[in-house]
Amino acid sequence: MKAVTLLEYGGELAFNDVPKPTIARDEVLVKIRCSAVNHLDLVEASGRARQILPIDLPWIPGHEFSGVVEQIGSDVATYAPGDAVFGTTSGMGAYAEYLTVKATAIARKPSNLSFEEAASVPVASQTAWQGIFTHAHLKKGQTILVHGGAGAVGTYAVQLASRAGATVIATASGADEAYLKSFGASRVIDYRATQFEKVLQEKVDVVFDLVGGDTQTRSFLVLKEGGNLVSAIQPVSQEEAAVHRVSGMMMRLAPSGDLLGKIGQLLEEGAIRPGVATVYSLQDVARAWQDIAGNLPGVHGVPPGGPGAARPKPRGKIVLRVA
Ligand SMILES: NC(=O)c1ccc[n+]([C@@H]2O[C@H](COP(=O)([O-])OP(=O)(O)OC[C@H]3O[C@@H](n4cnc5c(N)ncnc54)[C@H](OP(=O)(O)O)[C@@H]3O)[C@@H](O)[C@H]2O)c1
Repeated sequence: MKAVTLLEYGGELAFNDVPKPTIARDEVLVKIRCSAVNHLDLVEASGRARQILPIDLPWIPGHEFSGVVEQIGSDVATYAPGDAVFGTTSGMGAYAEYLTVKATAIARKPSNLSFEEAASVPVASQTAWQGIFTHAHLKKGQTILVHGGAGAVGTYAVQLASRAGATVIATASGADEAYLKSFGASRVIDYRATQFEKVLQEKVDVVFDLVGGDTQTRSFLVLKEGGNLVSAIQPVSQEEAAVHRVSGMMMRLAPSGDLLGKIGQLLEEGAIRPGVATVYSLQDVARAWQDIAGNLPGVHGVPPGGPGAARPKPRGKIVLRVA
Protein backbone atom coordinates (compact mmCIF):
# COMPACT_ATOMS: atom_id res chain seq x y z
CA MET A 1 0.00 0.00 0.00
CA LYS A 2 1.01 3.64 -0.37
CA ALA A 3 1.87 5.64 2.75
CA VAL A 4 3.63 8.82 3.75
CA THR A 5 6.80 7.96 5.66
CA LEU A 6 9.48 9.83 7.55
CA LEU A 7 12.90 8.17 7.65
CA GLU A 8 14.70 10.52 10.05
CA TYR A 9 13.82 13.32 12.47
CA GLY A 10 13.47 16.58 10.53
CA GLY A 11 13.75 14.71 7.20
CA GLU A 12 11.63 14.98 4.06
CA LEU A 13 8.28 13.20 3.90
CA ALA A 14 8.26 10.43 1.24
CA PHE A 15 5.29 8.81 -0.52
CA ASN A 16 6.27 5.16 -0.50
CA ASP A 17 5.10 1.57 -0.89
CA VAL A 18 4.94 -0.15 2.50
CA PRO A 19 3.48 -3.53 3.54
CA LYS A 20 -0.29 -3.56 4.15
CA PRO A 21 -0.81 -4.10 7.91
CA THR A 22 -2.40 -7.21 9.41
CA ILE A 23 -4.93 -7.07 12.23
CA ALA A 24 -4.83 -8.38 15.80
CA ARG A 25 -7.94 -10.01 17.34
CA ASP A 26 -9.21 -6.73 18.86
CA GLU A 27 -8.51 -4.61 15.77
CA VAL A 28 -10.16 -3.66 12.51
CA LEU A 29 -8.50 -2.99 9.17
CA VAL A 30 -9.76 0.31 7.76
CA LYS A 31 -9.42 1.45 4.16
CA ILE A 32 -8.71 5.09 4.82
CA ARG A 33 -10.62 7.74 2.88
CA CYS A 34 -9.22 10.82 4.67
CA SER A 35 -6.89 11.73 7.51
CA ALA A 36 -6.36 15.12 9.16
CA VAL A 37 -3.24 17.07 10.06
CA ASN A 38 -2.41 18.08 13.63
CA HIS A 39 0.32 20.36 15.03
CA LEU A 40 1.46 17.29 16.93
CA ASP A 41 2.40 15.48 13.69
CA LEU A 42 4.95 18.19 12.89
CA VAL A 43 6.29 18.39 16.43
CA GLU A 44 6.80 14.60 16.55
CA ALA A 45 8.51 14.61 13.13
CA SER A 46 10.84 17.46 14.06
CA GLY A 47 12.26 15.48 16.99
CA ARG A 48 12.06 18.59 19.20
CA ALA A 49 10.01 16.70 21.77
CA ARG A 50 11.50 13.23 21.28
CA GLN A 51 12.00 12.74 25.04
CA ILE A 52 8.25 12.91 25.70
CA LEU A 53 6.91 12.08 22.22
CA PRO A 54 9.24 9.42 20.80
CA ILE A 55 8.45 7.85 17.41
CA ASP A 56 9.74 4.69 15.78
CA LEU A 57 11.49 5.46 12.48
CA PRO A 58 10.57 4.89 9.70
CA TRP A 59 7.33 6.47 10.83
CA ILE A 60 3.88 7.01 9.28
CA PRO A 61 2.34 10.21 10.74
CA GLY A 62 -1.35 10.85 11.37
CA HIS A 63 -3.53 10.61 14.48
CA GLU A 64 -7.06 10.66 13.03
CA PHE A 65 -8.95 9.37 10.03
CA SER A 66 -12.22 8.39 8.37
CA GLY A 67 -12.72 5.33 6.22
CA VAL A 68 -14.46 2.02 5.63
CA VAL A 69 -13.93 -1.20 7.60
CA GLU A 70 -12.41 -3.84 5.34
CA GLN A 71 -11.73 -6.65 7.82
CA ILE A 72 -12.41 -7.34 11.52
CA GLY A 73 -10.42 -9.26 14.14
CA SER A 74 -11.92 -12.39 15.70
CA ASP A 75 -12.84 -10.58 18.96
CA VAL A 76 -14.58 -7.64 17.26
CA ALA A 77 -18.38 -7.78 17.42
CA THR A 78 -19.24 -4.09 17.05
CA TYR A 79 -18.24 -3.50 13.42
CA ALA A 80 -18.56 -5.33 10.12
CA PRO A 81 -16.83 -4.95 6.76
CA GLY A 82 -18.40 -2.06 4.85
CA ASP A 83 -19.10 0.10 7.94
CA ALA A 84 -18.11 3.76 7.54
CA VAL A 85 -16.12 4.80 10.62
CA PHE A 86 -13.93 7.58 12.00
CA GLY A 87 -11.51 7.69 14.90
CA THR A 88 -8.09 8.20 16.37
CA THR A 89 -5.17 5.89 15.68
CA SER A 90 -3.95 3.37 18.23
CA GLY A 91 -0.56 2.38 16.86
CA MET A 92 0.28 3.00 13.23
CA GLY A 93 -0.28 6.38 11.56
CA ALA A 94 -3.16 7.44 9.34
CA TYR A 95 -1.32 9.05 6.40
CA ALA A 96 -1.74 5.79 4.47
CA GLU A 97 -4.15 3.75 2.35
CA TYR A 98 -4.87 1.29 5.17
CA LEU A 99 -4.71 1.34 8.96
CA THR A 100 -5.16 -1.20 11.73
CA VAL A 101 -6.84 0.25 14.80
CA LYS A 102 -8.41 -1.00 18.02
CA ALA A 103 -12.19 -1.24 17.69
CA THR A 104 -12.47 0.72 20.96
CA ALA A 105 -10.84 3.81 19.38
CA ILE A 106 -13.39 4.32 16.61
CA ALA A 107 -17.08 5.13 16.11
CA ARG A 108 -19.56 5.07 13.24
CA LYS A 109 -19.21 8.00 10.87
CA PRO A 110 -22.18 10.39 11.19
CA SER A 111 -24.23 9.84 8.03
CA ASN A 112 -24.57 13.58 7.32
CA LEU A 113 -20.79 14.16 7.28
CA SER A 114 -18.52 13.67 4.28
CA PHE A 115 -15.40 11.57 4.81
CA GLU A 116 -13.41 14.83 4.67
CA GLU A 117 -15.49 16.34 7.47
CA ALA A 118 -15.46 13.16 9.54
CA ALA A 119 -11.64 12.93 9.48
CA SER A 120 -11.43 16.45 10.90
CA VAL A 121 -13.45 15.63 14.03
CA PRO A 122 -11.84 13.06 16.39
CA VAL A 123 -8.83 14.87 17.92
CA ALA A 124 -10.18 18.43 18.18
CA SER A 125 -13.66 17.51 19.39
CA GLN A 126 -12.54 14.99 22.02
CA THR A 127 -9.84 17.37 23.29
CA ALA A 128 -12.47 20.07 23.70
CA TRP A 129 -14.93 17.71 25.43
CA GLN A 130 -12.39 16.29 27.86
CA GLY A 131 -10.85 19.72 28.52
CA ILE A 132 -14.05 21.48 29.47
CA PHE A 133 -16.15 18.67 30.97
CA THR A 134 -13.83 15.89 32.22
CA HIS A 135 -11.05 18.13 33.55
CA ALA A 136 -12.58 21.60 34.11
CA HIS A 137 -15.96 20.21 35.27
CA LEU A 138 -17.88 22.96 33.43
CA LYS A 139 -21.54 23.15 34.52
CA LYS A 140 -24.71 24.78 33.26
CA GLY A 141 -24.90 28.44 34.32
CA GLN A 142 -21.13 28.85 34.67
CA THR A 143 -18.92 31.14 32.58
CA ILE A 144 -15.99 29.85 30.55
CA LEU A 145 -13.20 31.76 28.81
CA VAL A 146 -11.78 29.87 25.82
CA HIS A 147 -8.39 31.12 24.59
CA GLY A 148 -7.87 30.38 20.89
CA GLY A 149 -11.64 30.06 20.41
CA ALA A 150 -11.52 30.15 16.60
CA GLY A 151 -9.03 27.28 16.28
CA ALA A 152 -9.95 23.65 15.62
CA VAL A 153 -10.21 22.68 19.31
CA GLY A 154 -11.55 26.07 20.39
CA THR A 155 -14.48 25.99 17.99
CA TYR A 156 -15.67 22.70 19.50
CA ALA A 157 -15.12 24.06 23.03
CA VAL A 158 -17.28 27.09 22.22
CA GLN A 159 -20.03 24.94 20.72
CA LEU A 160 -20.05 22.27 23.44
CA ALA A 161 -19.90 24.77 26.31
CA SER A 162 -22.67 26.89 24.85
CA ARG A 163 -24.83 23.84 24.24
CA ALA A 164 -24.26 22.77 27.88
CA GLY A 165 -25.78 26.06 29.07
CA ALA A 166 -22.59 27.93 29.95
CA THR A 167 -21.87 31.55 29.05
CA VAL A 168 -18.97 31.46 26.62
CA ILE A 169 -16.36 34.17 26.19
CA ALA A 170 -13.60 33.55 23.65
CA THR A 171 -10.33 35.23 22.74
CA ALA A 172 -9.61 35.23 19.00
CA SER A 173 -8.65 37.51 16.13
CA GLY A 174 -11.23 40.28 15.65
CA ALA A 175 -12.11 38.90 12.21
CA ASP A 176 -13.43 35.75 13.90
CA GLU A 177 -16.04 37.50 16.06
CA ALA A 178 -19.12 36.80 13.90
CA TYR A 179 -17.90 33.25 13.22
CA LEU A 180 -17.62 32.47 16.94
CA LYS A 181 -20.90 34.14 17.81
CA SER A 182 -22.55 31.84 15.22
CA PHE A 183 -21.25 28.93 17.33
CA GLY A 184 -22.70 30.30 20.57
CA ALA A 185 -20.02 32.63 22.00
CA SER A 186 -21.66 35.52 23.80
CA ARG A 187 -18.54 37.67 23.69
CA VAL A 188 -15.35 37.63 21.62
CA ILE A 189 -12.26 39.55 22.76
CA ASP A 190 -9.81 40.43 19.98
CA TYR A 191 -6.49 39.25 21.40
CA ARG A 192 -4.53 41.39 18.96
CA ALA A 193 -6.18 44.62 20.15
CA THR A 194 -7.18 44.04 23.78
CA GLN A 195 -5.82 42.38 26.90
CA PHE A 196 -8.69 40.21 28.10
CA GLU A 197 -7.96 40.75 31.80
CA LYS A 198 -8.40 44.52 31.34
CA VAL A 199 -11.91 44.28 29.86
CA LEU A 200 -13.51 41.36 31.72
CA GLN A 201 -15.70 42.91 34.40
CA GLU A 202 -16.68 39.62 36.04
CA LYS A 203 -14.48 36.68 36.86
CA VAL A 204 -15.01 33.32 35.16
CA ASP A 205 -15.42 29.76 36.49
CA VAL A 206 -13.28 28.06 33.86
CA VAL A 207 -10.43 29.01 31.54
CA PHE A 208 -9.66 26.59 28.69
CA ASP A 209 -6.20 27.53 27.42
CA LEU A 210 -5.28 26.66 23.83
CA VAL A 211 -2.64 29.38 23.53
CA GLY A 212 -0.25 29.15 26.50
CA GLY A 213 2.58 31.54 27.43
CA ASP A 214 1.65 34.92 28.74
CA THR A 215 -2.03 34.26 27.92
CA GLN A 216 -2.03 31.41 30.43
CA THR A 217 -0.23 33.44 33.10
CA ARG A 218 -2.69 36.35 32.82
CA SER A 219 -5.62 33.93 33.05
CA PHE A 220 -5.12 33.58 36.83
CA LEU A 221 -6.28 37.20 37.13
CA VAL A 222 -9.74 36.45 35.72
CA LEU A 223 -10.57 33.19 37.50
CA LYS A 224 -12.98 33.05 40.42
CA GLU A 225 -11.68 31.50 43.61
CA GLY A 226 -12.21 27.74 43.27
CA GLY A 227 -12.20 28.01 39.46
CA ASN A 228 -10.43 25.69 37.02
CA LEU A 229 -7.69 26.46 34.51
CA VAL A 230 -7.14 23.63 32.03
CA SER A 231 -4.46 23.96 29.36
CA ALA A 232 -4.06 21.69 26.35
CA ILE A 233 -0.77 23.26 25.49
CA GLN A 234 1.56 23.68 28.48
CA PRO A 235 1.86 22.80 32.17
CA VAL A 236 0.13 25.11 34.63
CA SER A 237 2.12 26.61 37.52
CA GLN A 238 0.89 24.98 40.73
CA GLU A 239 2.42 27.82 42.79
CA GLU A 240 0.38 30.43 40.87
CA ALA A 241 -2.72 28.25 41.13
CA ALA A 242 -2.29 28.03 44.92
CA VAL A 243 -1.77 31.80 45.26
CA HIS A 244 -5.01 32.46 43.36
CA ARG A 245 -6.89 29.58 45.07
CA VAL A 246 -7.78 27.88 41.80
CA SER A 247 -7.03 24.49 40.24
CA GLY A 248 -4.76 24.24 37.26
CA MET A 249 -3.65 21.34 35.05
CA MET A 250 -2.36 20.44 31.64
CA MET A 251 -4.52 17.84 29.92
CA ARG A 252 -3.59 15.25 27.36
CA LEU A 253 -6.27 13.74 25.14
CA ALA A 254 -7.28 10.19 26.11
CA PRO A 255 -9.25 9.18 23.00
CA SER A 256 -12.32 6.97 23.39
CA GLY A 257 -14.59 5.42 20.79
CA ASP A 258 -17.53 5.80 23.21
CA LEU A 259 -16.96 9.55 23.57
CA LEU A 260 -16.49 9.90 19.82
CA GLY A 261 -19.80 8.07 19.37
CA LYS A 262 -21.54 10.69 21.60
CA ILE A 263 -19.92 13.49 19.61
CA GLY A 264 -20.95 11.76 16.38
CA GLN A 265 -24.55 11.78 17.61
CA LEU A 266 -24.39 15.55 18.23
CA LEU A 267 -22.96 16.06 14.74
CA GLU A 268 -25.68 13.91 13.22
CA GLU A 269 -28.37 15.91 15.03
CA GLY A 270 -26.80 19.14 13.75
CA ALA A 271 -26.22 20.28 17.37
CA ILE A 272 -22.55 20.96 16.57
CA ARG A 273 -20.72 21.52 13.28
CA PRO A 274 -17.32 20.33 11.98
CA GLY A 275 -14.80 22.65 10.34
CA VAL A 276 -12.60 21.79 7.35
CA ALA A 277 -10.27 24.52 6.13
CA THR A 278 -8.47 22.88 3.22
CA VAL A 279 -8.36 19.46 1.58
CA TYR A 280 -5.15 18.20 -0.04
CA SER A 281 -4.42 14.85 -1.62
CA LEU A 282 -2.20 12.58 0.47
CA GLN A 283 0.62 13.06 -2.06
CA ASP A 284 0.49 16.81 -1.34
CA VAL A 285 1.18 16.33 2.37
CA ALA A 286 4.24 18.61 2.22
CA ARG A 287 2.00 21.55 1.24
CA ALA A 288 -0.41 20.71 4.04
CA TRP A 289 2.48 20.75 6.53
CA GLN A 290 3.73 24.06 5.16
CA ASP A 291 0.27 25.54 5.76
CA ILE A 292 0.24 24.39 9.36
CA ALA A 293 3.87 25.29 10.01
CA GLY A 294 2.95 28.96 9.56
CA ASN A 295 1.75 28.71 13.17
CA LEU A 296 4.73 26.80 14.50
CA PRO A 297 7.93 28.81 14.26
CA GLY A 298 10.90 26.84 13.03
CA VAL A 299 9.23 23.44 12.99
CA HIS A 300 10.38 20.97 10.36
CA GLY A 301 12.68 23.44 8.64
CA VAL A 302 9.89 25.80 7.56
CA PRO A 303 10.82 29.36 8.52
CA PRO A 304 8.57 31.29 10.94
CA GLY A 305 5.79 32.95 9.00
CA GLY A 306 6.67 30.60 6.11
CA PRO A 307 4.66 29.71 3.03
CA GLY A 308 1.48 28.95 4.97
CA ALA A 309 1.53 32.24 6.84
CA ALA A 310 1.66 34.25 3.63
CA ARG A 311 -1.87 33.15 2.67
CA PRO A 312 -5.09 34.18 4.41
CA LYS A 313 -5.64 31.59 7.12
CA PRO A 314 -8.74 29.44 6.55
CA ARG A 315 -10.61 28.27 9.66
CA GLY A 316 -10.80 24.58 10.57
CA LYS A 317 -8.67 21.52 10.01
CA ILE A 318 -6.42 20.58 7.12
CA VAL A 319 -7.51 17.25 5.69
CA LEU A 320 -5.64 14.78 3.46
CA ARG A 321 -7.71 12.80 0.97
CA VAL A 322 -6.44 9.34 0.07
CA ALA A 323 -6.98 8.81 -3.67
N1 LIG B 1 -3.13 18.33 24.96
C1 LIG B 1 -3.72 17.69 23.96
O1 LIG B 1 -4.07 16.51 24.07
C2 LIG B 1 -4.01 18.45 22.69
C3 LIG B 1 -4.87 17.91 21.74
C4 LIG B 1 -5.14 18.67 20.60
C5 LIG B 1 -4.53 19.91 20.42
N2 LIG B 1 -3.64 20.36 21.35
C6 LIG B 1 -2.98 21.67 21.20
O2 LIG B 1 -3.96 22.67 21.35
C7 LIG B 1 -3.54 23.82 20.62
C8 LIG B 1 -4.69 24.33 19.76
O3 LIG B 1 -4.92 23.39 18.73
P1 LIG B 1 -5.83 23.75 17.47
O4 LIG B 1 -5.79 22.56 16.59
O5 LIG B 1 -7.11 24.29 17.92
O6 LIG B 1 -4.96 24.94 16.81
P2 LIG B 1 -5.39 25.95 15.65
O7 LIG B 1 -6.52 25.39 14.86
O8 LIG B 1 -4.14 26.35 14.94
O9 LIG B 1 -5.95 27.22 16.44
C9 LIG B 1 -5.15 28.09 17.16
C10 LIG B 1 -6.02 29.35 17.34
O10 LIG B 1 -5.43 30.17 18.35
C11 LIG B 1 -5.57 31.52 17.94
N3 LIG B 1 -4.59 32.31 18.67
C12 LIG B 1 -3.26 32.45 18.45
N4 LIG B 1 -2.71 33.26 19.40
C13 LIG B 1 -3.73 33.63 20.22
C14 LIG B 1 -3.81 34.45 21.37
N5 LIG B 1 -2.73 35.04 21.89
N6 LIG B 1 -5.02 34.60 21.97
C15 LIG B 1 -6.13 34.01 21.47
N7 LIG B 1 -6.12 33.22 20.37
C16 LIG B 1 -4.93 33.03 19.75
C17 LIG B 1 -5.36 31.48 16.44
O11 LIG B 1 -5.94 32.63 15.87
P3 LIG B 1 -5.22 33.41 14.64
O12 LIG B 1 -4.87 32.35 13.64
O13 LIG B 1 -6.28 34.35 14.18
O14 LIG B 1 -4.02 34.06 15.23
C18 LIG B 1 -6.11 30.20 16.07
O15 LIG B 1 -7.47 30.46 15.79
C19 LIG B 1 -2.31 23.40 19.80
O16 LIG B 1 -1.16 23.86 20.45
C20 LIG B 1 -2.37 21.88 19.82
O17 LIG B 1 -1.10 21.30 19.69
C21 LIG B 1 -3.38 19.67 22.48
